[in-house]
Amino acid sequence: MTEAILLVGGKGTRLRPLTVHTPKPMVPAAGVPFLTHQLARARAAGVEHIVLATSYLAEVFEPYFGDGSALGLHLEYVTEEEPLGTGGAIRNVASRLHSGPDDPVLIFNGDILTGLDIRALVDTHETTGADVSLHLTKVTDPRAYGLVPTDDTGRVLAFLEKPQTPEEIVTDQINAGAYVFRRSVIDSIPLGRPVSVERETFPGLLSAGAHLQGMVDSTYWLDLGTPAAFVRGSADLVLGRAPSPAVPGRCGDRLVLPTARVASDAKLAGGTVVGEGAFVAEGARIFGSTILPGAVITDSLIGTRARVGRRSVLTGTVIGDGAVIGPDNELLEGARIWCDARIPAGAVRFSSDQ
Ligand code: GDD
Ligand code: MG
Repeated sequence: MTEAILLVGGKGTRLRPLTVHTPKPMVPAAGVPFLTHQLARARAAGVEHIVLATSYLAEVFEPYFGDGSALGLHLEYVTEEEPLGTGGAIRNVASRLHSGPDDPVLIFNGDILTGLDIRALVDTHETTGADVSLHLTKVTDPRAYGLVPTDDTGRVLAFLEKPQTPEEIVTDQINAGAYVFRRSVIDSIPLGRPVSVERETFPGLLSAGAHLQGMVDSTYWLDLGTPAAFVRGSADLVLGRAPSPAVPGRCGDRLVLPTARVASDAKLAGGTVVGEGAFVAEGARIFGSTILPGAVITDSLIGTRARVGRRSVLTGTVIGDGAVIGPDNELLEGARIWCDARIPAGAVRFSSDQ
């Protein structure tokens, strides 16, 4: 049996105000909580047991996903009293694993949308006999990531988390946030204190001579750290560019969830998602955008990557590309929101207060 640990801690501050009450993994992407896509992809790759290692707002995961049987999984939840960091979170759930000391255990960062061939990563791990195997991807600006130079066999030479100086930027290969650990390596992480797998465990293993193997895979990959990236990811799921068995419906230009209503002359394209109970009225033109449940949109032009929060009402507005309208706003005739602007939750209304 293959099992996995999914890291869903951290505060997700960069997605605020969208996620004040909703942890990032539960924000809908292509109509279902983002985490569903990661769970369903792992299941499709043969993973049966997943431990969710979390440090915040843990109480929302279990009521939604339960024991995981709806996804064909056995799911368990472990909540840290204080955030333990990525390595500490992994160590903290070790007692829940069933794997033997030499068995492979998958570990996923909880904020990544990817088409990674998970079986290929496990196969690489097993054929190379590595202690840890890492999915690597290439990006144009690697500064926000962990840099992972490798030799020509893929063996990892160094791990440099968030390089600070130009000299430290020695490669465009970065840690893509999916690993296979030999079970015994997990047990060797110190217990009961914060540990960063990126800053402490990987560099420590390398200096002790351990075998870390990189697998460069140039499949679809996106870190969902910003609202704009989140909307991009959601649209790519709908368009089928980011493969996920959990998209509720057929992939195409648009995804209209059951109970949403869309007027016959409204135009939806570019991977637009219209959430449950949302209403898109006559004349609306919406491109590559996510309309969260309960929103009402009439005669508006919504730019690509824009996000309209729950219960917001938009009439006769132009919302620029990448703008984020938080929940419970009311924007009427003539409102124009600039590209990438953010309107916090409940910030603008025209009707009287309730
Ligand atoms: N349970 C738990 N506890 N999870 C945590 C904690 C913690 O204390 N801290 C972080 N996590 C989870 C986050 O929720 C996320 O899913 C994952 O671990 C990575 O943490 P981030 O805070 O998102 O790190 P990052 O995006 O700056 O960098 C990481 O991801 C990059 C790829 O997107 C690193 O792993 C980089 O090396 C990597 O390149
Ligand atoms: Mg991240």
